[in-house]
Amino acid sequence: MSTPLRTAVVTGAAKGIGAAAALALSRSGYHVAASDIDGEGLKRTRKVVEAAGGSIAVASLDVRHTDAVASYAAGFGQVDLLVSNAGFASVAFLEELDDAHWQAVTDLNLTSHMRLARAFAPGMKAQKSGRIVCLGSIAGHTYGWPGRLAYSASKAGVTGLVRTLAMELGPHGITVNGVAPAGLHAAAEQIPLRRVGTPEDIADFIVMLGSDGARFMTGQMLSVDGGMSVSL
Ligand SMILES: NC(=O)c1ccc[n+]([C@@H]2O[C@H](COP(=O)([O-])OP(=O)(O)OC[C@H]3O[C@@H](n4cnc5c(N)ncnc54)[C@H](O)[C@@H]3O)[C@@H](O)[C@H]2O)c1
Repeated sequence: MSTPLRTAVVTGAAKGIGAAAALALSRSGYHVAASDIDGEGLKRTRKVVEAAGGSIAVASLDVRHTDAVASYAAGFGQVDLLVSNAGFASVAFLEELDDAHWQAVTDLNLTSHMRLARAFAPGMKAQKSGRIVCLGSIAGHTYGWPGRLAYSASKAGVTGLVRTLAMELGPHGITVNGVAPAGLHAAAEQIPLRRVGTPEDIADFIVMLGSDGARFMTGQMLSVDGGMSVSL
């Protein structure tokens, strides 16, 4: 008799780290529920995962919309791993940063993690287990970045969110950790490991956070950056 697949939910899965995570998680034995606002990209992700023999369902989901996130979450049975990945890098220096820009960046890069956790936590609490992984960034976690004020502040907020959620959800058997990637767009010379990172580097780490070996770690924001954050 075959073991039933675990379920991983991955947001922002149409490309980049989310698409790589969908593939890596399916390869490590998850059924992947992949979502994004980019329908064409999601089709590509589904094709890649299915070609590799994986199990995947795709759905259009805008993580900025509370009701959409809530009704998406309500459609699931057991969810073992939530990868809250959707986000974007905005560029605006202080003088050109208006409130609307600030709010759009923090809504997607910070508030959406809370929205997703709030929607999926009740099911995880009921099953007394679950893993939540939120995508942060070394911008905000370990260093400042001129022109990325809203981005860095929103990503710094993810560190606080991860710590506090870990406290609230830990007693229910749920771990909450963050991944702070970097080095995917840097020059190899800036990176101690002397190569540019790939979405797959981050995706494989996300798989590790979902694995049994990570069962006693929670509340951590972990830099996955080839050492870039310690070389600054
Ligand atoms: N690539 C890097 O170097 C890097 C560095 C630090 C942090 N990160 C973080 O990792 C995460 C993924 O980054 P990436 O490089 O793969 O980005 P990406 O731009 O390649 O992919 C992001 C995905 O999120 C989707 N998305 C955007 N807005 C959405 C919304 N409202 N609802 C649902 N989906 C939405 C996009 O359509 C896209 O498919 C982000 O949170 C990003 O901030 C990336």
